[in-house]
Amino acid sequence: MSAQISQKHPTGLYVLFFAEMWERFSYYGMRAILLLFLLDSVRGGMAMNAAEAAAIYGLYTASVYLLTLPGGWLADNILGQKKAIWYGGIVIMLGHIILAVPGGSGLFFLGLTTVAVGTGLLKPNISSIVGELYPEGGARRDAAFSIFYMGINLGSFLGIAIVGYLGERISWHMGFGAAAVGMLLGLVVFRYGSARHLKGMGDVPPARIATAESDAKNGTNKKLGYAFIGALVVLLIVLQSSGVLDMTTAQGLAKGAGVIIVIISASYFLFILFAGGLTRVEQYRVVVLIILFLAIALFWAGYEQAGTSLQIFAERHTQRVIGGWEVPSSWFQNFQPTFVLLFAPVLASLWIYLSSKNLNPSIPVKFAAGLILLGLSFFVMVAASKIAVTGQLASPLFLTFTYFLHTIGELCVSPVGLSSYTKLAPKRYVSQLMGIWFVGASLGNLIAGIFAGGFDEENIMQMPGLFNQVAIITTVFGLILLVFWKPIKGWMGGIS
Ligand code: PHE
Repeated sequence: MSAQISQKHPTGLYVLFFAEMWERFSYYGMRAILLLFLLDSVRGGMAMNAAEAAAIYGLYTASVYLLTLPGGWLADNILGQKKAIWYGGIVIMLGHIILAVPGGSGLFFLGLTTVAVGTGLLKPNISSIVGELYPEGGARRDAAFSIFYMGINLGSFLGIAIVGYLGERISWHMGFGAAAVGMLLGLVVFRYGSARHLKGMGDVPPARIATAESDAKNGTNKKLGYAFIGALVVLLIVLQSSGVLDMTTAQGLAKGAGVIIVIISASYFLFILFAGGLTRVEQYRVVVLIILFLAIALFWAGYEQAGTSLQIFAERHTQRVIGGWEVPSSWFQNFQPTFVLLFAPVLASLWIYLSSKNLNPSIPVKFAAGLILLGLSFFVMVAASKIAVTGQLASPLFLTFTYFLHTIGELCVSPVGLSSYTKLAPKRYVSQLMGIWFVGASLGNLIAGIFAGGFDEENIMQMPGLFNQVAIITTVFGLILLVFWKPIKGWMGGIS
């Protein structure tokens, strides 16, 4: 296997690597200062309270990944991947340019929406073109995805460092402008690189062979789809008018979005489970996919607090002065990509070593490990916040260790989860289920935002309790997975 992995990769992979690196530079760079910008009331920020700011942050990051569903659909049916990536990148760049103009809240929300739409178009399609480069699948494709994941994290690292610094120390809009420049570089790489090295790939949308039967089926599906959307709208109206949710506030809107995402995913899973024409073995595999979906949403709900509650903790309660210089608080978010870059090779070798001894942990065990590590990281934050409530600044080592545990957890669930989704999904549902994997990320990001709403400046006494809740919920879910790993593995029907 290792001889195969060390074989040269096509140059196309590096084109995608650098294009995605710059896209992630712009995404994570802007995200690093987003919450600070929303909270700020002295440097021309939006002067929001913590609950409102975190809800908007959560809505934004959740929309980005939810929009990968229409983005994937457009590429599959109309544009083809290459055009989707190209136009997506242009739209992202325009979004950052709009954000770079200091022009009040209307322009700001327009900019955010534009970036989210563009990312929905680019992100799923750039990953699927990586897969297309290796039609034979196997170990080389896995290796290519690991290299690609390094590109993602290298981009995040540079983005957080540069955009974070410019935004926090020079001006918010200068930071947003730097994100636009990053995306421009990604577009240049993609334009020149793809013309030479991705010839004939992602040009035409995967052909759709329409037969009378599939047309009739499409008709019924369309009707079902309209009925479903109608039912969702009615539900939202009922929730609003009965006063259960107030969707005229950012927090209420975020909760409404959460209800929609949960209903869409649950209905989708129930639909393919009972009306998808699956065999018994496939049905059990879909049950495993549902369990992994819940686990990954919960995982991201904790992990993505890097941009919300943990960002607030870095800014307000962490000792950040080193040798007389105050480290920008957004730089703490850089521990995640840095640790990925350092430890991805270590974990990859660990899995290979364990496989050689026939001891490679099964997918449910890896997910359990990821959740338990995440849970432990929040117990570390409980200790840190107990110092903060006394009015003292906590040592930066707390956040460092927290992020270390996050990243080892991420490396247990994220790469493994993606490939297990492609393997466990019934063939004809693979791309839709890939979309659902992003919906898991979307839900997690939204929860991370809603949850951080509790981190109010005037209410810091509740901080240890809030972190404790995350710690307990994730650890317990992880332990349940660990206890039931054997039956879950059995349901995977021979796939490992
Ligand atoms: N760091 C990963 C990325 O930006 C996080 C992620 C994983 C996002 C899966 C969405 C889905 O690609």
